Amino acid sequence: MKILVVNGPNLNMLGIREPEIYGRESYADLEKYIESAAKELGCEVEIFQSNCEGAIVDRIQEAYGKTDGIVINAAAYTHTSVAILDALKAVSIPAVEVHLSEPMEREDFRKISYVGKACIDRFAGFGFEGYRKAMERLIRSNQ
Ligand code: DQA
Repeated sequence: MKILVVNGPNLNMLGIREPEIYGRESYADLEKYIESAAKELGCEVEIFQSNCEGAIVDRIQEAYGKTDGIVINAAAYTHTSVAILDALKAVSIPAVEVHLSEPMEREDFRKISYVGKACIDRFAGFGFEGYRKAMERLIRSNQ
């Protein structure tokens, strides 16, 4: 099974940005975590990060016909992007929403998720482990 992990804006700043919320581990640590979890779960993984909404839309479109599942942490675009929602709907690839923190327990503007409207499940507030849970969920849905 092939899984694409899409990470949105400012996640490349992990370890530096608001460590009290997102922890002290870096984005490279997150990539290592995802790669080793994918190996253990026996799936192929590709990780993509961008700070640009259009680049995320392009990467989701490229996955059409080539990827069995998408794990997406669209970061701030989660709460604003109809374009990313539409891209996920356009490719109809099963997608799972992930957040390191739990946006529902934060500011009101984080309580809306456009991206989540195209996802089969959601894992938030589990830190890095949320990515593993999301991959497991996609594997279950692919069986
Ligand atoms: C986030 C939560 C979002 O609200 C925020 O804009 C992020 C990260 C998370 O992983 O907890 O950038 O998606």
